[in-house]
Amino acid sequence: MITKRKNILKIAIDSPAAAGAGTIAKAISKHYGLFYLDTGKIYRYLAYLKLKFPKEFNKKFIKLKIKSLNSRNLLNKMLLSNEIGNEASIISKDKNIRKMVHSFQQKCAYNPPKKYKGSCLDGRDITYKIVPDADLKFFITANVKVRAIRRYKELKDLKKKIKFNDVLKSIKKRDKSDINRRISPLKKTKDSLLINTTNLTKRACFFKIKKIIDNKIKK
Ligand code: C5P
Repeated sequence: MITKRKNILKIAIDSPAAAGAGTIAKAISKHYGLFYLDTGKIYRYLAYLKLKFPKEFNKKFIKLKIKSLNSRNLLNKMLLSNEIGNEASIISKDKNIRKMVHSFQQKCAYNPPKKYKGSCLDGRDITYKIVPDADLKFFITANVKVRAIRRYKELKDLKKKIKFNDVLKSIKKRDKSDINRRISPLKKTKDSLLINTTNLTKRACFFKIKKIIDNKIKK
């Protein structure tokens, strides 16, 4: 059983790869004083560990790593590579791995550190599995080419040697896998608000979501 703080604001976001959810979620969390968790980073971190320690990568090892998980582990720039993203998409289909990650995410959502007024999580199954009773739910998406361009720029900024077509291919492959998998697929729930960022600047997107949150808080 997890401890649940009362009267906190919980925001849940699901989105396909590189739709801009992380950037928006970070800005929103900062503005409202919410604890932010990019859940994709946890799967990316585990993927990184699997590639680095293939022989040790078993249930016990993963459990230990999740137990000692801290935000510094998730800030590692290496986690942003295409290779890690692809591997994350593969390991995230594993029922046991999802189970182990589940309670860590719920702790962050329902019992964020006291200095925060609530939480904001983004991922693939946040709106219906991790925080089904969130106060606000968003499904953030964008055209696949626009997403690939954004991810390509991000990777180029990190000085990664990468071709645009490989980024596009990898995003399409991950979309297909994340949407069609049996366990915790990416989907938009009926009670999630659809935000399409294809033609929106970061600023426009932030204000669009802020308006929705402000209306909800006022009630
Ligand atoms: O969000 P990001 O693209 O960093 O996530 C990497 C991969 O982790 C996704 O393609 C997806 O397969 C997996 N993931 C997941 N559930 C989440 C977040 C991410 O399965 N809540």
